[in-house]
Amino acid sequence: MSRPVWQWDESIQRGWDYKSITEVRRYDERMSTFRDAKDEAREILSRLALSPDDVVLEFGTGTGLFAREAAGRCRKVIAIDVSSTMLDYAALQAQGEQIDNIVFVNAGFLTYQHHDAPVAAIVSQMALHHLPDAWKLIALERLSGFLREEGRFYLSDVVYADRVQTDWASVFQRVMDQIDVDGRDEMGTHIREEYSTFDWIIRQMLVRAGFEIEWAEIEGDLLGRYLCRKARA
Ligand SMILES: C[S@@+](CC[C@H](N)C(=O)[O-])C[C@H]1O[C@@H](n2cnc3c(N)ncnc32)[C@H](O)[C@@H]1O
Repeated sequence: MSRPVWQWDESIQRGWDYKSITEVRRYDERMSTFRDAKDEAREILSRLALSPDDVVLEFGTGTGLFAREAAGRCRKVIAIDVSSTMLDYAALQAQGEQIDNIVFVNAGFLTYQHHDAPVAAIVSQMALHHLPDAWKLIALERLSGFLREEGRFYLSDVVYADRVQTDWASVFQRVMDQIDVDGRDEMGTHIREEYSTFDWIIRQMLVRAGFEIEWAEIEGDLLGRYLCRKARA
């Protein structure tokens, strides 16, 4: 089906590109040097309080670590990403751990089609900033439509905290200085070319998209975490 001229094209990666397997491997290695993603996944799962029969959608699954952790706590995980290289890598990792209840789908926030019953939970970590703000809201409204009433949505992303709005050059420089040499190109590209937005904008979008924010925290200058519940109709 042809796409309208105004439609955002998710197949084009803006900013850092995860299309090559070398980049995907590098991403996986780098993540393990400054982030305990397994521990993060367990914390998210305890906040989601899933039942064994639940289905979870994950958008921007990347190398699939969260999906693998979640697979042990629910019936099925649908792990979605626009990068088929990421998905191939994630599928191999899952196979290596003999996990067979993850379905990998090559699609994105704006293109994934959900044909089953509304799900118990949706998770997205470090991926929404790939969309400009208008498309972020459209994406969040879509996600809300996939969730059952009272279902939970956990979002984490690189967002700019309100308190840092005075001296941007120092803030961005401080962030760059905190990153190890290997990660500076990626972070520079992120700040320059990707679509991280302000915490207050994300909060307003979440509410507009039909979520109640149950808990939120901003870590340092740049990381936002939000646990939301789909508001009753
Ligand atoms: C920085 S990685 C994060 C991966 C993983 N969630 C994590 O926390 O490590 C961003 C991921 O989002 C994916 N992505 C980019 N644009 C997307 C879109 N429009 N819809 C879904 N995923 C997207 C990328 O391919 C990449 O795998």
